[in-house]
Amino acid sequence: MGILPKDLEAKLKGKRVVKPLPDEPKYKVKVAVVSGKGGVGKSTIATGLAVALKDKGYKVALMDADVYGPNVPTLLGVTNQHPEVRNEKMIPIDANGIKLMSVGFLLEQSDTPLLWRGPLVHKLLEDFIGKVEWGEGDFLIIDTPPGTGDAHLSLTKLLKLSGVIVVTTPQTLALEDVAKTIRAYSRFGVNILGLVINESYVTCPRCGERIPLSDESSVEFFSRQYGLPILIELPLIRELTVMGGKGKFAELPEGLIDPFKELSKYVEELLKEENQE
Ligand SMILES: Nc1ncnc2c1ncn2[C@@H]1O[C@H](COP(=O)(O)OP(=O)(O)OP(=O)(O)O)[C@@H](O)[C@H]1O
Ligand SMILES: [Mg+2]
Repeated sequence: MGILPKDLEAKLKGKRVVKPLPDEPKYKVKVAVVSGKGGVGKSTIATGLAVALKDKGYKVALMDADVYGPNVPTLLGVTNQHPEVRNEKMIPIDANGIKLMSVGFLLEQSDTPLLWRGPLVHKLLEDFIGKVEWGEGDFLIIDTPPGTGDAHLSLTKLLKLSGVIVVTTPQTLALEDVAKTIRAYSRFGVNILGLVINESYVTCPRCGERIPLSDESSVEFFSRQYGLPILIELPLIRELTVMGGKGKFAELPEGLIDPFKELSKYVEELLKEENQE
């Protein structure tokens, strides 16, 4: 197939596809960021959340499980890195104090097409879980591909998730797709923490007025219909796109990092619960 380094490729061959939970990364809280819809800000939210938690002093790892479009290395400015392999385990890349693993690190070129079939996605994620030297820590945040396909099925089989955060934009068509994700994760029996409404509004640069980008009542209705709280609403902010494109997400200034800090409170609650047990 020629995508993975040769030694890894050899290891992937001929392996059993379904196997019981391998050694899980030793992180107290494991949260995946999901959405039925593409391009709604999953990678932005997952990365911003990881950075906010790291800034608060927690030990954080970030698994970029988007096996088709791994964008996290770009957001954190760590493209063109290749993890070392020691004792048959890959060493995650240190991205400003966050341990990061991504399919992006295994590609020879950034535009290599990723045409994985289901069993290979499963095997790859199995290796991302069991064959990466994750060490120990507080939070493992997982970025996922859009939809509820193979990667999601595998992740929920392979990891005991503490919960998922569902990201959506406020348009009816986005909500329609996201509803399917909510249904799927309920069926998987995973704790759904709530909704992030991304690119929900813009703030007028002159008068500070909030200008909604959709019919806000649909979002409220949706939240009630599925019994899921709105954790945060994030406006459309040009600087966020710019900082992400320049790989400067670990350096988000006050103001830009604030919504992610707000979101981090919800996963900190999970840590408290975990520590009480
Ligand atoms: N609140 C926001 N304000 C401005 N730009 C944003 C915001 N959220 C996300 N973006 C930008 O929108 C684009 C898509 O975001 P992102 O890649 O995080 O979405 P995604 O759901 O992970 O996409 P995919 O489904 O392709 O993985 C990116 O360029 C990102 O920088
Ligand atoms: Mg993404």
